[in-house]
Amino acid sequence: MKEIKIGLLGLGNIGTGTYKALEMNRDIIEKKIGAKVNIVKILEKDIDRERDITVSREQFVSDPEDIFSDPEIDIVIELLGGVEPAATFMERAMKSGKHVITANKAAVAANYPRLMKAAEENNVQFKFEASVGGGIPVLNPLDCGARANDYTEVLGIVNGTTNYILHKMSTEGMDYDTALKDAQEKGFAEADPTADVEGIDAANKLSILMALLFGKYVHPDDIPTTGISGITKEKIEEAKENDCVIKLIAHATVREDGDIDYEVRPTYIRTYHPLAGVLEEYNAVYVKGNLVGKLMFYGPGAGPLPTGSAVLGDVMEIAKTMDLQDTADAE
Ligand code: HSE
Repeated sequence: MKEIKIGLLGLGNIGTGTYKALEMNRDIIEKKIGAKVNIVKILEKDIDRERDITVSREQFVSDPEDIFSDPEIDIVIELLGGVEPAATFMERAMKSGKHVITANKAAVAANYPRLMKAAEENNVQFKFEASVGGGIPVLNPLDCGARANDYTEVLGIVNGTTNYILHKMSTEGMDYDTALKDAQEKGFAEADPTADVEGIDAANKLSILMALLFGKYVHPDDIPTTGISGITKEKIEEAKENDCVIKLIAHATVREDGDIDYEVRPTYIRTYHPLAGVLEEYNAVYVKGNLVGKLMFYGPGAGPLPTGSAVLGDVMEIAKTMDLQDTADAE
């Protein structure tokens, strides 16, 4: 059986989750694609951190060039987080002929044209399913099974932290600060929650969705964005009195003249709308297409194993396009 060799950039929370997901489901994955899958090199400084996985010290490298220049490596998975050096590393990997997979919404959103160009020019695949909606298969289905559609609108609950906080405020009457503290204690919010609560993370994801659905790239800094830090108990109650819930919605809609309106902001959603039922830290992406009508993708928007599930799904998608015929088998 042929072997797909992977270089992994980053063995933090998501990197470890992806590694573990491969350890857990290796048999299923290898059987489905008809090839072995191994993470052979890992770029990571923190070698000694306690991790719930089996990694040998020989797998670690300190110079990313050890991965980019290795002719045996087929795929580079970038899970470093942050815009740089992640984006430059991904571009470098593609220029070295590697397929690239990432979960890094900030790096993808800030560099979408540059990274797509690198993929095209170097005839490799660039896949980022895990960057929007974590474990929810949403980008690949929209770009595959529903691709024939002319998409007209997308509404996303694409940030689990803010959905959890708003859910707690709505269902348990918590004020914003108490709900944020609760989210931090449960691991749904970072110690510095700014990127989540101010809508920056959701804007990154909306930028990616718009580029994919409408072929229109807007840098996330240019998306009008309002977070949830100004939401009070009174606003939550007012929404309820109007048969609504407040959700942080990443919204883009195509106007009659073809221009696109886009925004991230706390939005009143009618209680009968499917997005109103997206509770706790869950995510959903609701899309309108001219053929299919309304679609909704729902599931866990974060977490090491769900995100690892999406990353490995991308590995398997790329595997479909690789020549995995073993010379010995072919003879
Ligand atoms: N901070 C993000 C969220 C993680 O809360 O949804 C997944 O992108």
